Amino acid sequence: MKIQWYPGHMTKAIRNMQEDIRVIDLIIEMVDARAPMATRNPDVDKLGQNKGRIIILNKADMADERSNKLWKDYFNSLGCECMYMDSRKKADMRELMACIDRASAEKRERDRARGIVGRPVRAMVAGIPNVGKSTLINTIAGKSAAKTGNKPGVTKGNQWIRLNKQIELLDTPGILWPKFEDEHVGEMIAYIGSVNDLIVNISELAECLGKWLLANVPVPLNDSYNKDGAEDISDYRSLMDAIVKSRGCLKPGGGADYDKAENILINDFRSGRLGRITLEKVPE
Ligand code: G4P
Repeated sequence: MKIQWYPGHMTKAIRNMQEDIRVIDLIIEMVDARAPMATRNPDVDKLGQNKGRIIILNKADMADERSNKLWKDYFNSLGCECMYMDSRKKADMRELMACIDRASAEKRERDRARGIVGRPVRAMVAGIPNVGKSTLINTIAGKSAAKTGNKPGVTKGNQWIRLNKQIELLDTPGILWPKFEDEHVGEMIAYIGSVNDLIVNISELAECLGKWLLANVPVPLNDSYNKDGAEDISDYRSLMDAIVKSRGCLKPGGGADYDKAENILINDFRSGRLGRITLEKVPE
């Protein structure tokens, strides 16, 4: 599948981020738990050199539970603080605070050695579009968070949200762009709908996704589109036919509406209706 991506407007985003990062102690890097590697931008390592880091596997509610644990272990094994969450849930924020505390211990120690006491850790949420950055900021900030106003060194009038005595969060997320290092990475990003600006051919996207699902997780396809077991969903064509039948995809003048069936498949996957599915395996 060919994906064309024009990251023109991202140049400004990265410039903003480079500027903001100067006053940041900690980067909260958000990725999509369904494709944790594909939704990372490896440049964050360069941008975040000498900064604390937490990796959040977000939208974990839509990813396979076992895979969430394996991915967390994987990032932990690389020496990164990592947690998985549903960023819409306030309940997950307590663990995040503990994570931030651990990830900033070194910084606090450095401050102490230099005689700096009580300076809060400044954190920034960063990630590619649609991974849930704004949602996390909203959830984390809640009603009680006080905006602390401008600070010297932050030129664009960014605001800081004081989460508690020790932590301040920049209210504007850092936007990274996805890296299409290989075709499959682009496909996964397109499957989860992480980038609206992606110019994808919906028919090709549905076919790639359908074939991947058939090969890797066929059960939810049968559960969703073949409830009575009457169909034999063995290849992409039969999958499309099963969707047409089960969802009544008919053109006004009669005949199967495969465009509609393609959209149903993509939307059902993206919304989690097909169940919790992780696209990427932890590297060996
Ligand atoms: P961004 O700032 O990184 O671009 O992402 P944003 O917060 O706008 O989130 C993108 C979409 O993902 C939103 O849905 C949001 O509700 C959803 N989302 C964020 N975190 C989670 C999560 O942990 N689990 C699930 N299931 N969804 C999550 P939307 O449909 O675009 O908007 P809305 O209808 O929710 O307003």
